[in-house]
Order: sequence, then structure tokens, then C-alpha cells
Amino acid sequence: MNEYLLDVRNLKTYFPVKGGLLRRIIGHVHAVEDVSFRLKEKQVFALVGESGCGKSTTGKSILRLIDPTAGQVIFDGQDITQLSQEEVRKKRRDMQFIFQNPYASLNPRMNVWQLLSEPLKAHFSLSESELRDRVESMLDKIGFTKDQLQRYPHQFSGGQKQRISIARALITQPRFVVADEPVSALDVSIQAKIINMLLRLQKD
Ligand SMILES: Nc1ncnc2c1ncn2[C@@H]1O[C@H](COP(=O)(O)OP(=O)(O)OP(=O)(O)O)[C@@H](O)[C@H]1O
Ligand SMILES: [Mg+2]
Repeated sequence: MNEYLLDVRNLKTYFPVKGGLLRRIIGHVHAVEDVSFRLKEKQVFALVGESGCGKSTTGKSILRLIDPTAGQVIFDGQDITQLSQEEVRKKRRDMQFIFQNPYASLNPRMNVWQLLSEPLKAHFSLSESELRDRVESMLDKIGFTKDQLQRYPHQFSGGQKQRISIARALITQPRFVVADEPVSALDVSIQAKIINMLLRLQKD
């Protein structure tokens, strides 16, 4: 097996800057400039830096939410930057992103059952009872009860919504998760609770 689960090599992501009457490309923002690091399975890695230095763009480029300009992202021996969109979609089972803003990241038309069962349906072929077991076990881990399954995102607090989006990201048991400031939009009082929950889930 590979010694490293993730091997990011010389990653670069540039955004075009348009200007003038014709909105021509007049330059590029070098959001990610030559980033390299390696991670082993189960390892926690923190990317720290001032606002705008490229942390979110690095995470999104690794998961192909944004296509990087250059470099390689070797995940479990495979270069993610070379995959087709369809292959990237299949990789989502093993590579997930937790967004900063729980208000924007959940589909308001889906209830908790739909939000949590959808990723399982997309990546596994489970029976109805297996599906129910997996969803209910995750529900328990985030401190929710079964009677909340039929409720919609707007019926929850910010902290509860963020717990749902974390549950959604982790329900397929991905091997690699990018958590982009997962608690910065929340009250200080519930930040610690969510971080502790994430650390517990990471151990599972
Ligand atoms: N879609 C985009 N189009 C053009 N420029 C972008 C885009 N997304 C980010 N940028 C620019 O890329 C740079 C890095 O942004 P990024 O969001 O990665 O920073 P960050 O380190 O996550 O900052 P913060 O701590 O504020 O979240 C910034 O200069 C930003 O303006
Ligand atoms: Mg950011």
C-alpha cells in the first residue's frame, strides 16, 4: 500500500482577473502557489494563514471543487487532478468537504432523512433497512433523535444545521475530509461541542 494517503505536489490554482470594456483577462490571482504536503491515514493536518492566503482554495482544489492550474494530488495512489467529472463524483465517497457556512451548504428542500440517505444511495447499494440503520446510527452520533428526520434545515439552529452537514459529509465514512473553518460561523458556546464531535467521529 501507499505510505501516504494524500500527497499534494506543487499545487497551483490561479484565477483569471478580467478588466477593461471587453472584460479580457488582464492577469491572474495566484490563490495557491506551489503547495506541497503529505498526509498519512488518520492524520489531522491544519492549514493556517491570514485571510485570503488561499486556504479554502487549496482545500477545494484538492477535492476538485475547483480545478487546479498545475500540480498533482495523489490520493491513495491515484492523481485526482487527472480524473473526469464522473470519476471525481465517485471519489466523493472517500473525499469530502465540510463548508464554513451551514446556512448555504444544505439543500433547503430536503429533510434530514433525505440529506443523510442521499450520499449513501449514491455510493452504496443498501437495502431499506441497512439505509435506515446507517442513518439512525449517524443521527445518534450527532445527538439527534429519529423524530427530527422529517424536519427541514430552516427548522434547526445554526449549530444543529452544521451538525447535519457534518453528518452528511461523514456518513459514507470518507478517508479524507477537508473541514474549512467548520465552526467559525457559529457561537463560541457551541464551537467546542462541534469540534469535540468531529474529533470523536474521526476516531470511528
Ligand atoms: N472564485 C474565485 N475567483 C477569483 N478569485 C478568487 C476566487 N476564490 C478565491 N479567490 C481569491 O483567491 C485568494 C485566496 O482565497 P481563499 O478563499 O482561498 O482564502 P482563505 O485563505 O480561505 O481566506 P479566509 O481565511 O478569509 O477564508 C483571495 O485573494 C481571493 O480573493
Ligand atoms: Mg477560507
